[in-house]
Amino acid sequence: MTLPQVNSARLMETLETLGRIGETPEGMQRLAFTPADVEGRRYVMDLMARAGLKVRVDPAGNIIGRIEGTKPGLPAIALGSHTDTVPGGGKYDGALGVLASIEALQTLQDLSLSPIHPVEVLDFTNEEGTSYRRWLYGSRAMSGLLEDADLKAVDDEGVPIGDRLKDVGGDITRIQQAVRCPGDLCAYLELHIEQGPTLQQNQIPVGIVTAITGRVALEVSVVGVANHAGTTPMNSRRDALLASSSLIQAVSAIAAEEEICRVGTVGMVKVSPGAENVIPGRVDFSVEFRDVDMQRLIQAGRRFRGLCQSIMLTSDVEVYVNEVGVTQPQAMCPRLSQAIHGAAQKLSLLTASLPSGAGHDAQSMAKITDAAMIFVPSVDGVSHSPLEYSDPQACVNGANVLLHTLLTLDETLD
Ligand code: HGY
Ligand code: MN
Ligand code: MN
Repeated sequence: MTLPQVNSARLMETLETLGRIGETPEGMQRLAFTPADVEGRRYVMDLMARAGLKVRVDPAGNIIGRIEGTKPGLPAIALGSHTDTVPGGGKYDGALGVLASIEALQTLQDLSLSPIHPVEVLDFTNEEGTSYRRWLYGSRAMSGLLEDADLKAVDDEGVPIGDRLKDVGGDITRIQQAVRCPGDLCAYLELHIEQGPTLQQNQIPVGIVTAITGRVALEVSVVGVANHAGTTPMNSRRDALLASSSLIQAVSAIAAEEEICRVGTVGMVKVSPGAENVIPGRVDFSVEFRDVDMQRLIQAGRRFRGLCQSIMLTSDVEVYVNEVGVTQPQAMCPRLSQAIHGAAQKLSLLTASLPSGAGHDAQSMAKITDAAMIFVPSVDGVSHSPLEYSDPQACVNGANVLLHTLLTLDETLD
């Protein structure tokens, strides 16, 4: 008996079509809440409808496509990911998971195979967190993890996140209704590109995620005194950028040299007033530390704050550190991971288990149901870049493992 397989050409065609929405010469610009995001969501909803899913948008803007099962009253098996991108991002991050989930259900429809459980495909809002720095937004809303700061966030232009949610069909006044009831779901599966080099280096086609990294996100403001670049002697300056440069070096040193945590990054820097002939009076920059061990993350934050104290003394500046958010590391469900392994074996695909250095919606969904992730190789491990690429065979392998894991769970979950 031949195993059901996804339609490779159709999957690749949907990836290419979505990949053209928000595409620029500098990479993908389909940031959450932008017109490109709205257009991409419309395409996803059309595909869901074509696959026979009933489509709705919850108050957090999450797109939920659903087919009922043959046995009434069972909790749903959910598949999903996100379709928003980082600025200058790639075509596969998130998009592969959403499109492969739809393709899996389209394949079941083509083969007239009806699942016992209801099955949902989820396209989560604002997974990347760009412009509001509130990542995993839709999945945290669904799993009841939103905090006050998530509801009050405003962007650099002062636009409240609630206004943006409206643009994608959400409603911040009803956002609590996005929280799923206990028993709604019995499993969540996410297919994603690895966004790292491990699978390609070891020539392994399928990764099974053991745990997803935690993250501490800070915003740092260094305040000195703006002054004339030509007339202010070097020994009487309170140069905010010079002081910041030591702290930016320290973020990297805490991870790379002191190995207090796995990685540390400064991704955004804003220098004020930002003129070549004015000594910077203020610098604002982002800091994020990541590790799968929460203790190491806490230690990294503590170490960094200590360095901020000493810089205040040596550089005669003020340093303010604000914690934007803390995301817990999250282990994946061994039982679901075993089902992924079994599905890959059925398809004669080798697997390897590995942690995820990237954050994913699965780490939110694990708070409300069993969650597991399937990885496929990223060429040269590159991601969050226009050079992000996974070859068609990798994408199809991932989609087929997702499909067969779904079929296994549908038969085995009570
Ligand atoms: O930043 C991340 O790890 C993910 O891509 N949102
Ligand atoms: Mn990403
Ligand atoms: Mn992603």
